[in-house]
Amino acid sequence: MEELEPSELGTLEYWEKRYKQEIKNFTNHGDVGEIWFGEDIVDKVTVWIIKHIPKTARIIDVGCGNGHTLIELANEGYTNLVGVDYSERAVILAQSIAENRGLNIKYSQCDILQGLNDVYDIVHDKEKALKSDGLFIITSCNWTHNELQDQYKDHFDLDCLIPTPQFKFGGKVGSVVSICVFKHKNK
Ligand SMILES: C[S@@+](CC[C@H](N)C(=O)[O-])C[C@H]1O[C@@H](n2cnc3c(N)ncnc32)[C@H](O)[C@@H]1O
Repeated sequence: MEELEPSELGTLEYWEKRYKQEIKNFTNHGDVGEIWFGEDIVDKVTVWIIKHIPKTARIIDVGCGNGHTLIELANEGYTNLVGVDYSERAVILAQSIAENRGLNIKYSQCDILQGLNDVYDIVHDKEKALKSDGLFIITSCNWTHNELQDQYKDHFDLDCLIPTPQFKFGGKVGSVVSICVFKHKNK
């Protein structure tokens, strides 16, 4: 099988350059920048969290970018929110947006591959740092629900799927984005 070229989205250089521009756009025009999976998908995650998770839960968004998901949660009354990103400029952007809106969200620069020091009730997007009874919510535009379950099967059981818009092609039904909620495996 032909080997795929690594994506530039997997490099810190790409994100630093991108957030440099997004900081400029925010400073000059108040434009907060890209919402990667779209507003509709962020809504699905936040609506699910609002329905199932208390407002005081300790929630971390890993690879938070401009912090859009956390801002939505803060607007809904969540008080214990943390965002980390390995791009220093993403952190600067996210801090500026939160400050501009008078929201109390803690941001810091952190490469998830180096690990996190703390544990959380809800981890959005990457999974280490989860309390034993916590929930790990992942949104993916690369992998299907089944592939995500397979990827995490040694450590996590599926708690539920958050439904996303579907499309039909060639008689098959698919989703552009998959959102899974995982819990630690019962030992
Ligand atoms: C596709 S963007 C998503 C941003 C945001 N979560 C959203 O949904 O709009 C991916 C983000 O992950 C961050 N990221 C990638 N690898 C990371 C790592 N190893 N540690 C922390 N952040 C990382 C990037 O800097 C970027 O901000």
